[in-house]
Amino acid sequence: MNYPILEKRLLAENIWSMTVEAPRVARSARPGQFVIVRAGETGERIPLTVADYDAERGSVTIVIQTIGVSTRKICTLEVGEALTDFAGPLGHPSEFVLHPDAAEGRRYLFIAGGVGTAPVYPQVKWLHEHGVRADVIIGAKTRDMLIYTDEMRAVADTLHIATDDGSAGFHGLVTQLLEQLVAQGEHYDEVVAIGPMIMMKFVAATTRKYGLKTTVSLNALMVDGTGMCGACRVTVGGRTRFTCVDGPEFDAHEVDFDEAMRRQAMYRSEEQRRAAIEAERAAGHVCRIGLSNR
Ligand code: FES
Repeated sequence: MNYPILEKRLLAENIWSMTVEAPRVARSARPGQFVIVRAGETGERIPLTVADYDAERGSVTIVIQTIGVSTRKICTLEVGEALTDFAGPLGHPSEFVLHPDAAEGRRYLFIAGGVGTAPVYPQVKWLHEHGVRADVIIGAKTRDMLIYTDEMRAVADTLHIATDDGSAGFHGLVTQLLEQLVAQGEHYDEVVAIGPMIMMKFVAATTRKYGLKTTVSLNALMVDGTGMCGACRVTVGGRTRFTCVDGPEFDAHEVDFDEAMRRQAMYRSEEQRRAAIEAERAAGHVCRIGLSNR
């Protein structure tokens, strides 16, 4: 079965959005979940988070950053062409507590960094549809790297932009903006952060000071997304967890980010990845893994 590409859009340098016809996935997808995508019979299976879904239209939107051969191959496909595989939805959906009177319910702050903005969008949209208040901070190095700002503005209570170089919005890091919002008296019950591992680590350190419950998504650690390669292994609350099976979302204050960043760094190039897989295999953690550079 093939999965035709209905829309394709360049969001920022090397970041593409694709809307794909996949009615069965669209019917059951929930915020926080991911799909495994493959282009061509010999293509590598790549886990990608769901950025949007439309059950009526039967479509699912994914956002892809081209970082290697396989992601570039997916992004060369044009509207009218088709993906070979589009398996999902996989992973545990995000958990939100809905109060019977939404106005009295929890107030969320989402902190999205770079391409991590894509998986934040369906969460904020879902809360908006259920009458729950959610503010959003989108952070990026520079204005050109911001994605999903218009979409997010339509569903967020308040949208804040932060750029490292000050080319748009707040000049500084998302954590500095978070500190400023709290100092100004903003009250949040819960924070959700999705973005680069280093950003999530420092968001967690900041919210710990305020005793603010915080959730992070570690989807960037995933390699095959099937629970078999061992690449997404992470320590959470002293226990070994697999991001693709037990997550991808975890309590930020329980995650060992330094270990997660070491693990992510092992997979930056094909050679490093191959060495890491061999080490995993020697330790008895690996059953199967593709070896191509993504
Ligand atoms: S991505 Fe989770 S085990 Fe491979």
